[in-house]
Amino acid sequence: MKHDNIEKSLPLMVVMIVIALSWGGMAEIVPLFWHNDTNKPVEGLEPYTAMQLEGRDIYIREGCHVCHTQMVRPFRAETERYGPYSTAGESVYEHPFLWGSKRTGPDLARVGGRYSDEWHRAHLYNPRDVVPESIMPSYPWLFEDKVDGRLTPKKMEALRMVGVPYTDADIEGAKEAVDGKREIEALVAYLQHLGTVVTKR
Ligand code: HEC
Repeated sequence: MKHDNIEKSLPLMVVMIVIALSWGGMAEIVPLFWHNDTNKPVEGLEPYTAMQLEGRDIYIREGCHVCHTQMVRPFRAETERYGPYSTAGESVYEHPFLWGSKRTGPDLARVGGRYSDEWHRAHLYNPRDVVPESIMPSYPWLFEDKVDGRLTPKKMEALRMVGVPYTDADIEGAKEAVDGKREIEALVAYLQHLGTVVTKR
């Protein structure tokens, strides 16, 4: 077929573009499914505890990921500020991942252990109490609202279906582990865990 014919027919052009892009995409993406670097958990990676998992859901619900990334890029300016750069193996149990691309606030991929629990509580209650120039919103309701554990075991079961290695015991104990806890506790448990698989090695 002469190239002319493709260029003169819009539907044909569209079909050919889709085929070309799909091939290109497949050649880049499909091999990653079998690449150890991208699908094998880094050493020491554990699934989130029930509390951390609920904290993560609060993080998503409150839109923290809209202002904060969780991906340290492999550049010197990044690794000096935040710590070791992120690798795919750290995110194997992340559904959905929260890498993000918009940084209104700092990256949080390595924030676990950087501040005390007390600091996080003060900061989330009113960021300006600890960082006077902060533009981050306050989250006072996290100190009143309690976690409802009824769905926690179901969330873990769903994650297990996509490959997160939760045991039956994890799932059985999940409701009790979170029920009645304040949301702030779950969120701080999650934040304090971020990046520790790499930074506490
Ligand atoms: C409107 C954007 C915005 C949103 C939404 C937001 N933050 Fe922030 N965050 C910031 C900014 C800006 C800073 C830097 C100033 C400061 O420390 O308060 C920051 C700082 C932080 C820090 C300190 C990081 C460090 O390394 O010093 C943590 C932890 C944090 N935010 C957690 C959260 C959590 C958890 C949520 C959701 C409950 C959230 N943020 C929502 C903008 C935001």
